Amino acid sequence: MSKPETTAVQLRPEWEALSRHHEQVAGDSIRSLFDADPTRNDDLTFESGGLVLDASKNLLTTGTIGLLCDLARATGVPERIEQMFAGERINVTENRSVLHVALRAARGERIIVEGEDVVAPVHAVLDAMGDFADSIRQGDFRGHTGKRIRAIVNIGIGGSDLGPAMAYDALAAYSDRNLTLKFVSNVDGGDIDEALLHLDAEETLFIVCSKTFTTLETLTNARTARDWLLEGLGDPAAVEKHFVAVSTNATEVAAFGIDTANMFGFWDWVGGRYSMDSAVGLSLLIAIGRDGFADLLAGFRAMDQHFRSAPLEQNLPVLMGLIGIWYNNFWGTETHAVLPYSQYLARFPAYLQQLDMESNGKSVGLDGEAVEVQTGPIVWGQPGTNGQHAFFQLIHQGTKLVPCDFIGFLRPVRRVGDHHALLMANMFAQTEALAFGKSLEEVLASGVDAGVAPHRVFPGNRPTNTILAPTLTPFVLGQLIALYEHKVFTQGTVWGINSFDQWGVELGKVLAGRIADDLAAEDDSALDHDPSTNAAIRRFREAKSV
Ligand code: F6P
Repeated sequence: MSKPETTAVQLRPEWEALSRHHEQVAGDSIRSLFDADPTRNDDLTFESGGLVLDASKNLLTTGTIGLLCDLARATGVPERIEQMFAGERINVTENRSVLHVALRAARGERIIVEGEDVVAPVHAVLDAMGDFADSIRQGDFRGHTGKRIRAIVNIGIGGSDLGPAMAYDALAAYSDRNLTLKFVSNVDGGDIDEALLHLDAEETLFIVCSKTFTTLETLTNARTARDWLLEGLGDPAAVEKHFVAVSTNATEVAAFGIDTANMFGFWDWVGGRYSMDSAVGLSLLIAIGRDGFADLLAGFRAMDQHFRSAPLEQNLPVLMGLIGIWYNNFWGTETHAVLPYSQYLARFPAYLQQLDMESNGKSVGLDGEAVEVQTGPIVWGQPGTNGQHAFFQLIHQGTKLVPCDFIGFLRPVRRVGDHHALLMANMFAQTEALAFGKSLEEVLASGVDAGVAPHRVFPGNRPTNTILAPTLTPFVLGQLIALYEHKVFTQGTVWGINSFDQWGVELGKVLAGRIADDLAAEDDSALDHDPSTNAAIRRFREAKSV
C-alpha cells in the first residue's frame, strides 16, 4: 500500500479559522443566537426529498457552516465523493472499492470497475432474491416435507444482522404478518435456543448470512440450527430445502454443506456495515416483498443522488457530518445521541453504532501516522419517549454536552388514537427545553421555593438537530440510512482516516480462538496469557469439571 501525501487536518488554515471562530462564539447561547436573528431557522433548515433537517437549535451560525464547508473543501470531500461513486479503491488498507452506492443504482445505470459494469450483476441478484421471496410468500417454495415456510431465521452478526434486524422492526407494518422472522446473532446459546423454542422444523428456513462465511458466531449458530433441523426432520437431505446462504465466499458456503445453487452473492466492495441493501437484506425482502424492498432502495438512491449533487452548504449528510465535527473537535464533546421518536426505529441507534463506530473509531490516518485530532464519537440512543424517563436528566442538567439528533415523523405509520400527537409533542418539547432551558428567574417567578429553585433550573444551550420526515415508509428508511452512511463518510474524509476497514475487531477474534482451545485442553499447563486472563480461564475450567 503506497502512503498518500496528506496534510494533517489540524494544520490546515481552515481548521485554525474554526478554532478562532469557536473562541469568538463560545460565549453565545442558542437563546442569544435566536434573539439576534429570530428567523435563523429559515437559513438553517435544509431539505432533501421530503426529509427536513432543522439545524437552528445548534451552537452555530450560517458563518460557522461556511467555515465548516471550507474545511470540507480543503480536505477534499467533493473529490472523495466522486472517487467513491467512480469505484476507486478508496478503502486503501484492504485495496478495495467502496461501492454500496452501486447496490441501489437504478437498473440500466452503469458503474464500471476495472472494465466491468457492477450494476447489472447487482440487479441479477436482486431479481433472484425477489423470485425466491415471491415463491416463499406465495407458498410455492416448500420445506422438505412439503409444508409452507412460515418462519425465517437469519443467522448472522454485525453487518450481517443489524441492518435487516433493524429494518424488519422499522418496517413491521409493511411486512407479511403470516411470516415469523427471527434474528440470531450472539454465540451465546441462549440466543438461538430462545429463537427456535416455538418453531416447527418443517416450516422453518434458515438464512446463513456472512460476508466471509468464516465468522465464529455465525458458523456456530448455523451448525446448531442444522442439528436442530436434522433432529426434527431426521433426514440430511432436508438441509437443501431449509438452508440458504448469503455470502461472498462460495468455497466456504460449499464447505459448510450448503449447495451454492442456494446462495445469494455479493461482492468484496460491499462493507459488512454497508451491506443491508445487498443480499444481506434477503430476510427483510421476504418480509416486505420485492416492491417494498425496491422502495427502500429508491430511498437510498435519492439520498445518494443528493449527496453527490447538492452543494456542500445544502447537503444534508455533509452538514450533519460537519456539525458533528464542530462539536467533536471544537467543543470537545465525546458522544452523540440519536433519538428516534418512533418505536419502529428502536434498533436504529444500535445499527448506527456499528455504522459509525466501526467506521470512524480509528486513530491512524490514511498516511499511517497517528491522528492528532479526536475522531468518531461514541454513538448511543433509545427511542423517545422512553429515553426521556431514563437518561434525558443527564442531557438536560448534567455536566456533559451531548449533541443529539431527534428524528420524528409528521404522520404515524398506523393511527392509534391521539398517540402520535402526544409523541411528537414530546419530541418538540424536548428540543425546545434543551435549547432554551428555564432560568433561575423563571423558576422563582413560578413560585418555587428559593432553596429548591437551583435544582429546577434548566441551563438550556444543549444542541440538537431535528430531522422530520413525512411518515416512516421503506423509502424514508432508505433515505435515513443513506443519510447516516454519508455523514460518516464525510467525517472520516475530513479526519483523514479510512472509514471502510475494521482491523480493530481482529485481535479479540484471534485471542478468542486460542482461549477456546485453552478452555477445552486436557490440562492448563500450557496457559501462557497474562496472570489475570490465566486465572479467569482456570476458574472456568474448574467450574466445568464440577
Ligand atoms: O465484527 C467485525 C465484522 O467483520 C463486521 O465488520 C461484520 O459486519 C461482521 O464482523 C460479520 O462478518 P461476516 O459477515 O463476514 O460474518
